[in-house]
Amino acid sequence: MIPFHRPSQRQTEKEYLLQAWEEGYWGGRTWTAQLEKALQNFFGREAVVVSSGTAALHLAFELLLNGKGGEVLVPTWTFTATASEVVHAGGTPVLVDVGPTLHPTVETLELCLTPHTRGVVVIHYAGEPAPLREIQAFCAAHNLWLVEDACHALPAWYEGQLCGTFGDIATFSFHATKPVAAGQGGVLLFRDPDLAEKARLLRQHGIARHPDHPWLYEVETLGWNYMLSDFQAAVALAQLQRAYEMRQARQALADAYRTALQALPELRLYPVQDPNQCGWHLFPVFWKGASAAQRNALLETLREEGIALSLHYKPLHLHPAYQPYVRVGQRFPTADQAWAEIFSLPLWPDMPFTALQTVLEKLRQALVRLGKNR
Ligand SMILES: Cc1ncc(COP(=O)(O)O)c(C=O)c1O
Repeated sequence: MIPFHRPSQRQTEKEYLLQAWEEGYWGGRTWTAQLEKALQNFFGREAVVVSSGTAALHLAFELLLNGKGGEVLVPTWTFTATASEVVHAGGTPVLVDVGPTLHPTVETLELCLTPHTRGVVVIHYAGEPAPLREIQAFCAAHNLWLVEDACHALPAWYEGQLCGTFGDIATFSFHATKPVAAGQGGVLLFRDPDLAEKARLLRQHGIARHPDHPWLYEVETLGWNYMLSDFQAAVALAQLQRAYEMRQARQALADAYRTALQALPELRLYPVQDPNQCGWHLFPVFWKGASAAQRNALLETLREEGIALSLHYKPLHLHPAYQPYVRVGQRFPTADQAWAEIFSLPLWPDMPFTALQTVLEKLRQALVRLGKNR
């Protein structure tokens, strides 16, 4: 089976993990501190590590909504956590349609703006940056905060600047499938260091320890157990040290896919502005004019041939749990069409080029076979 994804494993990950093991603390302490420092150096922003990308989003919305509720504009084209964590933080996600790059545009955001709107969250889908300048200007014009859910973009750049350094808060995931992986884990980056301090408190039950007598503590606020363990931090640190190298490997594979797929008239490539700035977390492709059922048949056929494709994403407005957040008469024409046609090809940093050739060959054959029945 050619998997959809596989983490890039090296000796350094093992060595750091073993060191964390032998230190014998295991909770988050020395390795989480080292990882935060490395992330701060990487991005030039205050970093607070947590147990997952979802936990990072939850804390981001807790801090920005600050118990006052309100509406947050969320792209319908995202993973559920981008929207569910708005609800868990007491807010209301307002689902927004997307443009051709599957990011919200100023026009689709404007359609959903109300006097109750407090902020905007974007994702850098597949590693392709959202139109950050336009969205930043939109936020400034309407006095809204901006969260970058940058789980697909470690690293990626927008106009030469690292994604994750544009929003008031940015969040990343270290889930096994993500560009910098540690099994599970996440991080928040902050423009405002005071908010970072609050996040540190909230990720460990709201407990503040006495600086000289660490056995003395007070619960200052009600928080969560969102700390990352030293095991995960050790693996994430080793991966972060290879983040540029792993992105480069993804890009080389993406280049090979792009060159080969341009020759297939049935397919349309996902529009990337600048291949050198994209994170290449995913390689999405559109099967032109396909219905969702035809596209599903393509995935099934390739699975029978031993190739795991995937779907990113079924838009949120099509899921049962998000029906309460779809406004009466609201339409999502771009997301609906993209959902029927899109699928993602296998891509991971150590993917052999021979495996990529196999994927291409089987894909071509399946398209011919299924295309005849269209
Ligand atoms: C865009 C996006 N946001 C958030 C998450 C959640 O991250 P985690 O799995 O670390 O909770 C994911 C993970 O799949 C994601 O793709």
